[in-house]
Amino acid sequence: NEIYLQGMGGTRPAFSTDATRLEEAARGKLEPEPFWYVAGGAGSGATMRANREAFDRWRLVPRMLREVSERDLSTTLFGTRLASPVLLAPVGVQGIVHPDGELATARAAAALDVPMILSTASSTGMAEVAEANGDGHRWYQLYWPHDDEVTLSLLDRAKRAGFTALVVTLDTWTLAWRPHDLDNAYLPFLKGTGLAIPFGDPAFLAGLAKPPAEDLPAAILRWLPMFNGRSHTWEQLSLLRENWDGPIVLKGIQDVADARRAVDAGMDGIVVSNHGGRQVDGAIAALDALPAVAGAVGDQLTVLFDSGIRTGADVIKAIALGAKAVLLARPYVYGLALDGEAGVRHVLRSLLADLDLTLGLAGHRSVAELGADCLQRI
Ligand code: FNR
Repeated sequence: NEIYLQGMGGTRPAFSTDATRLEEAARGKLEPEPFWYVAGGAGSGATMRANREAFDRWRLVPRMLREVSERDLSTTLFGTRLASPVLLAPVGVQGIVHPDGELATARAAAALDVPMILSTASSTGMAEVAEANGDGHRWYQLYWPHDDEVTLSLLDRAKRAGFTALVVTLDTWTLAWRPHDLDNAYLPFLKGTGLAIPFGDPAFLAGLAKPPAEDLPAAILRWLPMFNGRSHTWEQLSLLRENWDGPIVLKGIQDVADARRAVDAGMDGIVVSNHGGRQVDGAIAALDALPAVAGAVGDQLTVLFDSGIRTGADVIKAIALGAKAVLLARPYVYGLALDGEAGVRHVLRSLLADLDLTLGLAGHRSVAELGADCLQRI
């Protein structure tokens, strides 16, 4: 309504309300290197395409003549009631698309009461991001270092900065084969912006003879093997469990047996995700993994979903297939690229309005009532 009313006065939205057109606009604005870092996937891009194709195979079955004039998008995660079932996914190095980076994202998230998940690879230190987020909901995403002192230091600082849940990303213990970034010889983590958190961490600095500003190669040599090249194991999760008293969510689960192990390890949640097709080329679509995983463990822990969410209908489909809430990623990064905080707000408001309308038009009053019977697979 707001947009149509403004249109009567001759004003159009500054940016498209459609995720594909937003991506095109961001492509026009960004340099090719950062654009492709965001938009690109692993290998041939097969997994990234599969993520979208999987959404197209499920269709909503609209119901009529129901009382749906008042809709309820709220959901409760780990005892906290949220206005909508949408969170901002962890996205590192946001400084490569806009100078305000994570600070803009944190402000937009707080303004719209949408939780933000801050990446370990943030361009800006976690205390500053927390301050920008104010009394918003924030979770911390851990890229798990192979150095327990640095790990515990990150957890401790995150706790003190008001991050309530810990999201441990399992699928990116090393970076995948990403042809766009390889062809551009572009690794934003080594451009300076991505190093803020590990480089600013006291336990990380304690292992260096000189500060990074005086000896960058030594700092990078300490950083690389600590965050890259080797996976952790299920057994090691006990360190995190013992040192984080809030909820722990494992991100990157795509298999029922792994989901069961997450339950056994005392985890509170999982994100069914393939990292937006950025890690394993030729992997199954995240949405195709969701029904079986949610069916197996959905009553024992909180199942979240990402990889391919672009529209309100996508949110409905993921929730109907078993997710409690979804993470939005690339689209908000395009909003950030186009107009900083206002751009992220625009993307979030568009998605939430689309979700609200589509939910009602499909005949549902709340996201809580969505189930597989709302969908048909074609
Ligand atoms: C990511 N993602 C990500 N995930 C994570 O756990 N930590 C991180 O630092 C990042 N960084 C990151 C950067 C960029 C540029 C992108 C596009 C993605 C993955 C992200 O959280 C999410 O899983 C996927 O992006 C979901 O796929 P779609 O919906 O964006 O296609």
